[in-house]
Amino acid sequence: MIAIRSEREIGLLREANQIVASVHAALAPLIKPGVTTRALDEVAEEIILSAGATPSFKGYHGYPASTCISIEDEVVHGIPGDREIQEGEIVSVDVGACYKGYHGDAAVTRACGAIDADRQHLLDTTNLALSRAIRAARVDNHLRDIGRAVENTCKEAGLTVVRDFVGHGIGAKMHEDPQIPNFDDGRRGPRLKEGMVLAIEPMVNVGGHKVRVLEDDWTAVTADGKPSAHFEHSVVVRKDGGEILSASAACTWGQVPEA
Ligand code: MF3
Ligand code: CO
Repeated sequence: MIAIRSEREIGLLREANQIVASVHAALAPLIKPGVTTRALDEVAEEIILSAGATPSFKGYHGYPASTCISIEDEVVHGIPGDREIQEGEIVSVDVGACYKGYHGDAAVTRACGAIDADRQHLLDTTNLALSRAIRAARVDNHLRDIGRAVENTCKEAGLTVVRDFVGHGIGAKMHEDPQIPNFDDGRRGPRLKEGMVLAIEPMVNVGGHKVRVLEDDWTAVTADGKPSAHFEHSVVVRKDGGEILSASAACTWGQVPEA
């Protein structure tokens, strides 16, 4: 069952997501050579707690941190620690916050310093895929239209879509119905209705789509060791496409204008 949220609930979801957005804005200038992923996680946790929220990820199935930070071939769920980010690397930061009982969830992959053309193409394509998927989150579309938007965008760009992880409904729990594949799984899926709230999160690879999970039981990496990107927004299904809850004025992703 996919929940339909009242405008009051959507207001609370927006507040939670705006806390997430403020974390992303604060972390952006800190993604520099030599910074540890733990340092970024500490800043994120401090902002979430000062806002009167709690980090949604911490303690979730035993997850030990407030953010997931995934570098280079790490796809998602990288655990912050002593690793120092290097010039030329791409870094995905995923943040969740719970405020007044409602969750916010958003992720972005950023460049540390100058990156090569393949990595830039990966970031640009994943951002475009998310932007198109958000546009597809419109009343009377079906769930499949979201996955198709991502898959088609990535195929055209010569990139592959991760199949082992999906987006999700979000609300009073971080993960709610429906699961949102980033590809066409052959089912039309439910019809989208005004007030559904979805966390759309394409994960896209330069090489093959296959991933594996490391010994820490969390970090997902590409099987071939090639780079991967992840962008996510929490959006409300509206008549003209998804209304992004997790964007601030400083937010640079999921909003590619199109002809
Ligand atoms: N954005 C991710 C998700 O939707 C983050 C979850 S990480 C976890 O699944 F640690 F909380 F599992
Ligand atoms: Co999510």
